[in-house]
Amino acid sequence: METQVAGDYVRIFDTTLRDGEQAPGATMTSAEKLEVARALTRLGVDVIEAGFPAASPDDLAAVQTIARECGRSPLAGRTEPPIIAGLARATRTDIDRAWEGVKGAARPRIHTFLATSDLHLAHKLRMSRAEVLARITEMVAHARSLCADVEFSPEDAGRSDPEFLYQALDAAIKAGATTLNIPDTVGYTMPDEFGALIAGIRANVPGIEGVIISVHCHDDLGLAVANTLAGLRAGARQAECTINGIGERAGNCSLEEIVMTLTTRKPRLGLSTGIDTTQLCRVSKLVSTCTGFTVPPNKAVVGGNAFAHESGIHQDGMLKHQSTYEIMRPETVGAGGTRLVLGKHSGRHAFADQLGALGVALDGPALDRAFDRFKALADRKKHIGEADLLALASSERGAAHAHYTLDGLQVGCGTIGLPTATVRLRGPGDIVHVRAAVGTGPVDAVFKAIDEIVGAPVMLLEYAVHSVTEGIDALGEVSVRVRPDAGTAGVVPQSDAPRSRAIHGHGADTDIVVASAKAYLAALNRVLDDQAAVAALEANRPVVSAPPASRELPL
Ligand code: KIV
Ligand code: ZN
Repeated sequence: METQVAGDYVRIFDTTLRDGEQAPGATMTSAEKLEVARALTRLGVDVIEAGFPAASPDDLAAVQTIARECGRSPLAGRTEPPIIAGLARATRTDIDRAWEGVKGAARPRIHTFLATSDLHLAHKLRMSRAEVLARITEMVAHARSLCADVEFSPEDAGRSDPEFLYQALDAAIKAGATTLNIPDTVGYTMPDEFGALIAGIRANVPGIEGVIISVHCHDDLGLAVANTLAGLRAGARQAECTINGIGERAGNCSLEEIVMTLTTRKPRLGLSTGIDTTQLCRVSKLVSTCTGFTVPPNKAVVGGNAFAHESGIHQDGMLKHQSTYEIMRPETVGAGGTRLVLGKHSGRHAFADQLGALGVALDGPALDRAFDRFKALADRKKHIGEADLLALASSERGAAHAHYTLDGLQVGCGTIGLPTATVRLRGPGDIVHVRAAVGTGPVDAVFKAIDEIVGAPVMLLEYAVHSVTEGIDALGEVSVRVRPDAGTAGVVPQSDAPRSRAIHGHGADTDIVVASAKAYLAALNRVLDDQAAVAALEANRPVVSAPPASRELPL
């Protein structure tokens, strides 16, 4: 089903920092969020959904920082900075918070939502259809009184009665919405149905030609990209997506997949985006490092094998003509081989410049530490490429505010004797702590010694080692995922605790035991951050066991 719509430009609305960050265990620190937002800006996304400001003071602060740092002025070669959006439930307090978050941007947007499926009305909202329509009118109008750019999403649109959906969208348009987003919240629809839903909206909602239709598809049945494409072909002109497809449950439509579909099949689709596709692999890697969600080798567009040709027949074909087995060039998505960027004799200035070119903003002590590590690496590793630099930088991210940093480490292991580790950490007040421990292996021994010093018990959920580049001298990257052990750690397991979910840490070094120690410490530092946030929250309010008296809408 093909529909003619004025304009072939598809706005790319990235929600990695909101829907993506809602994925269990994908929590990012404010510094990581800012770095991802900067990378998204360079990538050329039209809208960055920077977060959900009502969720916590930290979320609000992160959105404000992104609005200020990425949303004020355009990058070189662009005419406008990206729109910075903040999500809000359809309540006055949420909308006011969202506005607080985004108002510092040159192009702010409030994105408010309310469910429209009978299922959600009956079981979640406990509201009648008439109440929902009245709430949409009131809250979209309130958002519009604050901000000229308002997006409204009828949550669970994919399972809503189309007739009621049309009424809800009509109400939103009349109240001043400028973008109407149609979410397939639970990833239930199929491409033909979703395309028909968008076509139905275009045919039945008065005034729809004056607003942008957006699509937001989840991947529960693996159909998010196909559904998004169907929506665009039926006339939507904004696609909501996330880097690597991360998001609630099975995730969202993957940005790199929908963008490369539109790009590669442009002659057939006739649609374009403003994305600089050569940045895709780099941003994918950054998001993977920040969230600890590794990208599977067979992932479309950005997976390690996406351009690998192993079988003899394929290799033979490729040697004869690249297009025998490749529908896009690796360099189009930034998947070219490792580029040599710096050598052993490069200075601090050149190092900082190269990091800047890769979009990494490190300065002060963090830059000094990264440069020292670069020099040490250059002594051990012959070729230092872009991937090495990104790994070094990501290891420094957040280190400046760490409660504990690694000061020294020694392990003994092998077939004789017990694996033993001695660990030296620098802690609060610049106090140096030393502990030794034995374990089932060197990494276990290191983690036990660290546990003794830090005293924040956690359960290790996941431990993974990867090599950043090929070769025996490659940097090793370690990713760990831990969960605070509430029973012993004294972490308050309240539903509104800032982060009561799995926490990720990342570290890189040519020595994988050192990389493991760094990754584990990074995770523990975050656990300590959470404990401090919970303590601050507790100190500022009376302990309540009953729900608040005012009627808030659940998310
Ligand atoms: O999936 C969904 O319905 C959402 C809305 C908030 C847009 O994420
Ligand atoms: Zn969603």
